[in-house]
Amino acid sequence: MPGVDLLGRVAREVRADLNAARQRDPAARGVRAIEMLATWPGIQALLVHRLAHALHGAGVPVLPRTLAFAARTLTGIEIHPAASIGEGLFIDHGSGVVIGETASIGNGVTLYQGVTLGGTGFSTGKRHPTVEDNVTIGSGAKLLGPITIGHGAKIGANSVVVIDVPPNATVVGVPGHPVRVDGRRVEGPDADWIHLPDPVADAMRVLSARVAELERMVGEREGEPPSPNGAETNGHPLRPVQGRNPAGG
Ligand SMILES: CC(C)(COP(=O)(O)OP(=O)(O)OC[C@H]1O[C@@H](n2cnc3c(N)ncnc32)[C@H](O)[C@@H]1OP(=O)(O)O)[C@@H](O)C(=O)NCCC(=O)NCCS
Repeated sequence: MPGVDLLGRVAREVRADLNAARQRDPAARGVRAIEMLATWPGIQALLVHRLAHALHGAGVPVLPRTLAFAARTLTGIEIHPAASIGEGLFIDHGSGVVIGETASIGNGVTLYQGVTLGGTGFSTGKRHPTVEDNVTIGSGAKLLGPITIGHGAKIGANSVVVIDVPPNATVVGVPGHPVRVDGRRVEGPDADWIHLPDPVADAMRVLSARVAELERMVGEREGEPPSPNGAETNGHPLRPVQGRNPAGG
């Protein structure tokens, strides 16, 4: 019977969500399932979402969105009924979590409060992130667009991630960038973003020096005394020597 099958599936998923909370929330040790169902916002939002998603998949109108709205009002967690969520999601604290319509979440994922799995604009179709298995996303992190977060990745609190994240990487910052991959520190020649090479300034400096040398040679031939002001013949520095670098920092 479809209704019984649907309820059975929802019950199995909710049991997996409860187990995930027990394993990953130190505060849940020794707390009974009934108490968690009554007082853990992440569990409540997921329970309602499991039901709303099943009804949405069965083509039931209005009710799935109404359930999602009720869960949002109660918990501060907004999950679109169409969002696909694997087994054992744990949403810690929860308030401010937003999971968009075309988001897809694998198994064993952990989200902290304030996480957004959102779109970047008004595009249609697949426009929200795909989060693979065993990913952890820190509080306040924003993951935007149809990007893929590889399995086992960690996203630092308050990061803004707009490009794909490789598996087992740790990504932090705005914009989010990998600082660890497979536990190893990420090094690169462009790690110093403030003192980037400036090839145009380098070329101007060389030309300026050659002009000064030519002027000196012509002056010598014509018997002119060398310029008393070396700075004039050598040209002005292309960047102020003192004060803040306008490139930032
Ligand atoms: C990213 C995170 C998962 C740590 O992952 P990790 O793989 O253990 O990485 P590390 O702690 O070794 O940190 C790696 C580097 O990123 C930096 N970093 C870590 N988290 C960061 C963050 N949120 N923002 C900016 N930089 C961060 C560290 O200082 C370190 O820098 P270094 O390479 O210069 O030493 C963790 O810092 C985090 O943000 N967790 C979220 C926790 C959370 O939201 N809790 C809410 C509870 S209510």
